[in-house]
Amino acid sequence: MATFKLSSGYEMPQVGFGLWKVDNAVCADTVYNAIKAGYRLLDGASDYGNEVEAGEGVARAIKEGIVKREDLFIVSKLWNSFHDGDRVEPIVKRQLKDWGIDYFDLYVIHFPVALEWVDPAVRYPPGWHYDDAGKEIRLSKATIQETWTALESLVGKGLAKSIGVSNFQAQLLYDLLRYAKIRPATLQIEHHPYLVQADLLRLAKNEGITVTAYSSFGPASFEEFKMAHATELQPLFEVPTVKSLATKYNKSAGQILLRWATQRGLAVIPKTATPSRLKENLEVTGWDLEKADLDSITALDRGLRFNQPANYFPTELMWIFG
Ligand SMILES: NC(=O)c1ccc[n+]([C@@H]2O[C@H](COP(=O)([O-])OP(=O)(O)OC[C@H]3O[C@@H](n4cnc5c(N)ncnc54)[C@H](OP(=O)(O)O)[C@@H]3O)[C@@H](O)[C@H]2O)c1
Repeated sequence: MATFKLSSGYEMPQVGFGLWKVDNAVCADTVYNAIKAGYRLLDGASDYGNEVEAGEGVARAIKEGIVKREDLFIVSKLWNSFHDGDRVEPIVKRQLKDWGIDYFDLYVIHFPVALEWVDPAVRYPPGWHYDDAGKEIRLSKATIQETWTALESLVGKGLAKSIGVSNFQAQLLYDLLRYAKIRPATLQIEHHPYLVQADLLRLAKNEGITVTAYSSFGPASFEEFKMAHATELQPLFEVPTVKSLATKYNKSAGQILLRWATQRGLAVIPKTATPSRLKENLEVTGWDLEKADLDSITALDRGLRFNQPANYFPTELMWIFG
C-alpha cells in the first residue's frame, strides 16, 4: 500500500476510509469490513458521533487477527467547542476511550473556529450550536495558538503520534507555522475537480505538509442535505471528461476522481456504504493517468465549496471561508 512519510517521521497510508455519515447501526460492521478489504487508515471525528461503533469494528478486526493496532492509522479530530486549551486533553481522552485505544496516529483541529464549550454530559457530540434547539452560535476566545499548544502537549503525553489541521487556508497556516514547535504533519481539505485549490496545495508542498483530500466526489456527499448547488450540478461521475477517462483507462468514474487526487500527491479518504465500492476505492494508486488527462480534470475547477456551515443552516454568524 502506498504511504507518505509525514514530517513527524511516521508513515501514513495514502488511501483511507472516511467515517462521516456512516450510520451508527452499521458503523462497526463497516469499519470491520473496510479493514478486511485492506483499509488501514480510518478517518474519524468526535463530530461524526460514531467513534464508539468505529472502535468496535477495530476491536473485532484485531480480535480476529486480521490486523494489530500498530498496523492501523487511526485519525480523529478536535471539535470546535473543545478549542479552549484546558478542554483539549479531557476530550481527547474521552475520544480515545470511545475508540477503545490509547493513542491516535493523527489528531487534527477539525475547523479553525473556536466555539464555547458544551459539557459532553449535556450533549455529545455538540454540533455547531450552543443550545439544544440549534439556534445559538457562541464563539470562544481561544486562539489557534492556544489550541495548537494543547495539541502539541498531546504528542508529549503519547496521546497522539502526529498532529495536524483541517479546513485551514493559507493565511492561517502562515500564522501557525510562526509559532508551532511541532509543525502540522497534515492538512485535510475539501478537494475535488470543482474545488482544486492549486495555491493551497503549492503552499503545503513547500512547507512539507501532507495534504489529505476530503469529499473527493464533490457534490455526491452533499446531495442528501438538499443543497441547491449540489443537487443542481452535474454529478462528477457523469461529467463527460471523467466518463470518457473511465472508459479509456477501464476504471470506474470514482477511481478516476480518486486517482486524479492521489496523482496530485494527496491522500484520499473516500467513504462508502456500498460493499462493492470498498475495494474499488482502495485501488487508486499504482496506475497512472497521462498528464493531459490529469489537466483536463483540473480544468473542471469552479472554486465551488460545499462543506461550509452556511450551507447547513441559515446563519449570519459563521463565515469560516469568507
Ligand atoms: N475535515 C472535514 O471537515 C471533513 C469534511 C467532510 C469529510 N471529511 C472526511 O472525508 C471523508 C470522505 O468525504 P465524504 O464522506 O464527504 O464524501 P466522499 O467520500 O467524497 O463521497 C461519499 C459519497 O460518494 C458515494 N461513493 C463512494 N464511492 C463511490 C464510487 N466509487 N462511485 C460512486 N459513488 C461513490 C457514496 O455513496 P455510498 O455510500 O452510497 O456508496 C457517498 O454518497 C469523510 O467520510 C470524512 O472522513 C472531512
